[in-house]
Amino acid sequence: MKLNSANINVMMKACRNAAKPLIRDFGEVEKLQVSVKGPGDFVTTSDKKVEKILIEELSKARPNYSILSEEIGEIKNDNEFKWIIDPIDGTANFLHGIPHFCISIGLEKNNEIISGIIFDPIKDEIFTAEKGNGSYLNNHRLRVSNRNKLKDSIIFTGGPKQGVKERDLILEEYKKFSSLVHIPIRKMGSAALDMAYVAAGRCDGFWHRNLNYWDIAAGIVIIKEAGGFVTDVKGNTNYIENKTILASNSKINQEMIEVFK
Ligand code: IPD
Ligand code: CA
Ligand code: CA
Repeated sequence: MKLNSANINVMMKACRNAAKPLIRDFGEVEKLQVSVKGPGDFVTTSDKKVEKILIEELSKARPNYSILSEEIGEIKNDNEFKWIIDPIDGTANFLHGIPHFCISIGLEKNNEIISGIIFDPIKDEIFTAEKGNGSYLNNHRLRVSNRNKLKDSIIFTGGPKQGVKERDLILEEYKKFSSLVHIPIRKMGSAALDMAYVAAGRCDGFWHRNLNYWDIAAGIVIIKEAGGFVTDVKGNTNYIENKTILASNSKINQEMIEVFK
């Protein structure tokens, strides 16, 4: 049986409480999806509702921690700890009634992510990790996959987002990767879950440009603690500043980096 730290328990409770209205709202979206009216701005309301609950819960338990959250931005406190929150990752899936989205919370200490949680409320899957203590899916220890050839691997990516200047580059990279793998590349629509799936060995490698810190914060520690590698596409460690991530098992990491040379 896995023993959770106090901080992981705080994150789990916040996620569980925020997931209640989220699951209800998803049921509504599914109905609205097939109605003439359509879901409209329903999603932004859901996003804000989830964020509000998460922040209330986390601040109640840890009043002096700072916060960086996608919708409201930064709440600064004079403290070495900071929560990094994406209230819904996979918003477009949520909006279209596709049951693949999550809540993601990372915890930073002195600018390093030390714990993370990624919660998929529809599949009831909770991915957690703490530096030095391994990664878990619900109560089971996670390990990245063992696949050692890129050609046999299942690779995830996302983007390009509308209007980004790297659009052509991203499409070129996609073509290049496509020619190297037997299984067509997946675009699942939630970067946080993509990272959780790398940690769980469901996906062998993932790359993505133009991601924000809240998309990847929790995933970083969850992958590392499952024995995976996280770098930018050139193999460097400044992936947060570069907003470009490459995450994989240890075996295909170098082969993936070669693709970007
Ligand atoms: C998005 C998702 C998506 C990725 C986008 C992100 P959001 O986050 O993670 O998979 O391709 O770049 O912006 O908007 O659903 O929180
Ligand atoms: Ca996101
Ligand atoms: Ca989001």
